[in-house]
Amino acid sequence: MRFDVITLFPEFLAQSAGLGVVGRAQEKALFSLHGWNPRDYAEGNYRRVDDRPFGGGPGMVMLIEPLQACLSAVRAADPTPAPVIYLSPQGRPLTQAKVRELAALPRMILLCGRYEGIDERFLAGAVDEEISLGDYVLSGGELGAAVIIDAVARLQEGALNDAESAAQDSFEGELGLLDCPHFSQPAQHPLGDVPNVLRSGNHAAIANWRRQQSLLRTWQRRPELFDESTLNKADRKLLAQARDGLESDKTP
Ligand code: ADE
Repeated sequence: MRFDVITLFPEFLAQSAGLGVVGRAQEKALFSLHGWNPRDYAEGNYRRVDDRPFGGGPGMVMLIEPLQACLSAVRAADPTPAPVIYLSPQGRPLTQAKVRELAALPRMILLCGRYEGIDERFLAGAVDEEISLGDYVLSGGELGAAVIIDAVARLQEGALNDAESAAQDSFEGELGLLDCPHFSQPAQHPLGDVPNVLRSGNHAAIANWRRQQSLLRTWQRRPELFDESTLNKADRKLLAQARDGLESDKTP
């Protein structure tokens, strides 16, 4: 997997992709990251990359020319086809399904805007897809690019060991449920004890408990993620039992 990132702050991306699981994946050459600064492709003494918007209003708009020259250099550096993905609050919100789709590509070009945005004429011709982190506004696309790189890199074959397996993640699996709670040593602590079932050694009971916790959490925290009427019989029973448990906890 090759990531090319067009950004006024390439050093930011290099740093965030150098840590933890993602840093290890990069060391194992499971992906490569290439930063490209449009300022290096800007003309004139001041290497201007932005100017005031036509029609007035606050902020600056990133200019077509430096971005065009920069993107041409990115394409010329490697013949592998790659979609240009623009990070912006106008894009479709990123989901784990989208991350999985992106993880199957050989390469992508992530375009980060700053200021008020990028001249629409460049976007209309160059961008294949627009992705947003969510319904809020950031000061640039770099955090979005870092998020995509992290989420995609950890899904590359060999990035996670068995214990970290992505199959257990929130939003994975058929229903896209939230992850269950996790516990470690000590088994007993003033903040609470680890549930007995997790210490039972009974793998079927543990899997059942985890599934039940995932169902319960998703129902409690993100009920829009699944339609209860589509649950299979076993899941419906687990969820009903968990809810009964909550009710009986409340009764004095
Ligand atoms: N750039 C500015 N706001 C953003 C957002 N919400 N998602 C992705 N990129 C952005």
